[in-house]
Amino acid sequence: MPSSGPVTVRVPAKVNVQLAVGGRRDDGFHGLATVFFAVGLFDEVTVTPAETLRITASGPDAHQVPLDGSNLAAKAARILAQRYGLEPNVHLHIAKDIPVAGGMAGGSADAAAALVGCDALWGIGAGRPELLGLAGELGSDVPFGLVGGVALGRGRGELLTPVETVGEYHWVFAVAEGGLSTPEVYRECDRLREAAAAGGSHAAAVPVPEPSQELLEALADGDPVALGAALFNDLQPAALQLRPDLADTLRAGTEGGALGSLVSGSGPTCAFLAKDAEAAEAVAEGLLRSGTCRSVRRATGPVPGATVVPG
Ligand code: C5P
Repeated sequence: MPSSGPVTVRVPAKVNVQLAVGGRRDDGFHGLATVFFAVGLFDEVTVTPAETLRITASGPDAHQVPLDGSNLAAKAARILAQRYGLEPNVHLHIAKDIPVAGGMAGGSADAAAALVGCDALWGIGAGRPELLGLAGELGSDVPFGLVGGVALGRGRGELLTPVETVGEYHWVFAVAEGGLSTPEVYRECDRLREAAAAGGSHAAAVPVPEPSQELLEALADGDPVALGAALFNDLQPAALQLRPDLADTLRAGTEGGALGSLVSGSGPTCAFLAKDAEAAEAVAEGLLRSGTCRSVRRATGPVPGATVVPG
């Protein structure tokens, strides 16, 4: 049954607790073994019938959200409409709370929310595999926005399997001034690897990316200390090369007592895992005092993926 609207969908940000990057594939993407973790920082996308497809955004960073056809949420509405022979005539309003261009998949999250919202508004009732397929066409991180929780991503990140975990984890995020371009960070990663190869370094051989057993065990045990020690991101050296100031941010969070730290995805947001809520408060205060970031956000997780908010 189509809904007369509006439909609001809540969707979380992600941090990659593992991001193992393989070599560049023929299609330009990199093979990954990544563990996505959904955290409680949310965007809300409201879908309403309209004369034509349009986008608006609200929130402190709304001015950074593209409001034209390049917005991934608009592409999501179009791809779903096209698949079912409909016109994508909706107003998408994005209430933006996820840092923009921060490595937390905010744009991808909005696309996942738009798929779920348009599906409900138009009464399509597309199955999960259908939506996951469309999400994968839209972007490597979009399928995870649909599923949330914790999941292993293979391929370019779009092929997901759920990862077992127990308990609640406490995260602190240092939001940086400005953003980083994901393609640019991957290019820098390739460049650093090529330079290492030319220099005959052992770091030169690009290994086939595999999930870390230590990390999966830490998640299965609900052990934040072990998870903190196992966090890693192959894109981090590239992000630090492009934004050397992030090293100060990472140091400040570690000095504040974080169990582990890493650049989130392609950055520049830095993520810190804390033992509990009290420790997270101390990490957040340390980061604020250090003056090494634009703002500090706290969140717990894992949380579910894109979900319709009951009207
Ligand atoms: O899939 P998505 O559109 O989010 O990817 C953005 C860009 O990031 C790609 O065009 C590519 O340059 C880079 N990327 C990559 N390998 C991946 C995912 C993204 O090289 N697995």
